Amino acid sequence: MKTLFGKLADGTEIHRWSLDNGGTRMKVLSYGGIVQSLEVPDRHGRYANITLGFDRIEDYVDSSPYFGALIGRYGNRIGKGRFTLDGETHQLSVDDGENSLHGGLRGFDTAVWNVTPFTRGTDVGLHLSYTSADGEMGYPGTLTAKVTYTLTDQGDWRIDYEATTDRTTVVNLTSHVYWNLAGEGSGTIEDHELRLTASHFTPTDPGLIPTGELAPVDGTPFDFRESKPIGRDLRTGHPQLLAAKGYDHNWVLDKGITAAPKPIATLHDPSSGRTLEIATNEPGVQFYSGNFLDGTLVGPSGRTYRQGDALCLETQHYPDSPNHPSFPSTVLRPGETYRTTTIHTFHA
Ligand code: BGC
Repeated sequence: MKTLFGKLADGTEIHRWSLDNGGTRMKVLSYGGIVQSLEVPDRHGRYANITLGFDRIEDYVDSSPYFGALIGRYGNRIGKGRFTLDGETHQLSVDDGENSLHGGLRGFDTAVWNVTPFTRGTDVGLHLSYTSADGEMGYPGTLTAKVTYTLTDQGDWRIDYEATTDRTTVVNLTSHVYWNLAGEGSGTIEDHELRLTASHFTPTDPGLIPTGELAPVDGTPFDFRESKPIGRDLRTGHPQLLAAKGYDHNWVLDKGITAAPKPIATLHDPSSGRTLEIATNEPGVQFYSGNFLDGTLVGPSGRTYRQGDALCLETQHYPDSPNHPSFPSTVLRPGETYRTTTIHTFHA
């Protein structure tokens, strides 16, 4: 079902699509491909929206920290917004101190996507497409991005990303949903239990750019190999946690890049009984503990979002890969097709 959600300042109509399958209900905007709401039942069968967001398009345009949005062309940071490819240096739009974050000032999260609904057997979904012009935000090549959101008859939310280019470029697409499994506006996620199948993470400099090191998580607050409450080690004063005001790092997934999506993360909320499992074929995941939510935004529940009221698990290649030849490559050349998949499974 499609309804008018609102209009941009220039009059562009923004629509909202509602999907419902296998016990999961989802609302998606043409603006930024934003997941505006995702509802699943708790252990008693009671539905709640478990993602942060807004009720009004103006709030998304004016003050959203990427709530629910598609991220491109490059998920996370590129140091100084600069990289060299085939001998040519590219200067990107810089929007985070001296660095480029999530595609620059007007990333894919602010693009108006072309959306078409589909039904395939027992699955329902949306095809989203956006063509980013050569040079947009400083990136070389016309990038044709296609993202498919599928709700399966099991209630899984699957994202398939695809992109092609007409000039050699870099690409790293992801989704920036803020999860709170107890429900949007219900307070902190510090009691949520998280498991990540990663023995290493990429430490960062003060600007949150990876130093290039793959550091072992063993014996550090970054060890989520056994499920633990997110809040347990958050206040240990680890220098990496101090610099980022919490967790805001890329975990190096033990499985590496895989042809098929493999399970990498389990998030469980003991209060509601809801569990989210994530599988991907990507080599990394950015776990961000909502450090910059500062009590200035109010969600559809009418409740304020404060630090740690949600978390993000962004499947991706590592941040700043274009400047780290030792990291898995994010280069895309003409004739190649970028393809990645992430699957979210819910139960209670
Ligand atoms: C980044 C954070 C950033 C957030 C946006 C995350 O992916 O790693 O540093 O603040 O997105 O709100």
